[in-house]
Amino acid sequence: MARILGGITTSHIPAVGNAIANDMFDDPYWKPFFDGYPPVHEWLERVKPDVVVNIYNDHGLGFFLDKMPTFAIGAAHEYRNEDEGWGLKPLPPFPGDPRMSWHIIEQMVADEFDITSCQELAVDHGFTVPMQLFWPGLIDNPAMPRAIPISANTVQHPIPTLRRALNFGKSLRKAILSYPQDVKVVVLGTGGLSHQLDGQRAGFINRDFDKMCMEKIVDDPESLTSITRHELVRQAGAQGTEFLMWMMMRGALGDKVTLRSQNYHIPISNTGAGTMLLECAA
Ligand code: DHB
Ligand code: FE
Repeated sequence: MARILGGITTSHIPAVGNAIANDMFDDPYWKPFFDGYPPVHEWLERVKPDVVVNIYNDHGLGFFLDKMPTFAIGAAHEYRNEDEGWGLKPLPPFPGDPRMSWHIIEQMVADEFDITSCQELAVDHGFTVPMQLFWPGLIDNPAMPRAIPISANTVQHPIPTLRRALNFGKSLRKAILSYPQDVKVVVLGTGGLSHQLDGQRAGFINRDFDKMCMEKIVDDPESLTSITRHELVRQAGAQGTEFLMWMMMRGALGDKVTLRSQNYHIPISNTGAGTMLLECAA
């Protein structure tokens, strides 16, 4: 049977992709951010996941405002990245696991989550930057797991509530654990923490709110479900709604988790950048 080893969160700021491409790991601006990743690399090398369920929010590459699924799951053999305008070389395609994707989709629809199933899906920085951060070298890295992308709408209101996000994760957990093959799974929650990219509050970051979310998500994620969507935008900024991905990831880990490492650094570009590694009970 499939097992969930743990969950990892990270911001997915596109400037990170540029910093990686230009080898800026020891640059004074970037070092405090990249210093959060070696403990995650060590853990991944030790536990060796076969599959990564990458929960992210598409920003307009795979879906656009004309059609915006609330929850979408990739069921493709591979996932392409495309140029998002930074002049960076698109990354090679990411191998998928369509059999496991369809199992998850079938189980979650039976569990009354309405999923958009995607047999083709272009993946943007929300998906690719975390993959680059966790598996340096990507396809040249023999440890890179097969990927199952899950995108939730944080772009066009109405977006899901924090409670719905946590419950999505719980349903995802049941679906993964019922997969008959003996695969080891790690779940990513990408995006956040607080940031607002446009409008009068452009540049808004809320360290206290971010810290509170990082504390509560470990042992008491239920308490965060009382935060309304309006309150989330007010406290975390218009794009801080990406915290929904963290809640989806957390729901998939079960009740008890152990915090193995964390890092928080502001600002990276316009964002409060948070990284957490949560390990599931064996
Ligand atoms: C930034 C952050 C994001 O989450 C994103 O999708 C795009 C840009 C930023 O801080 O620059
Ligand atoms: Fe984003």
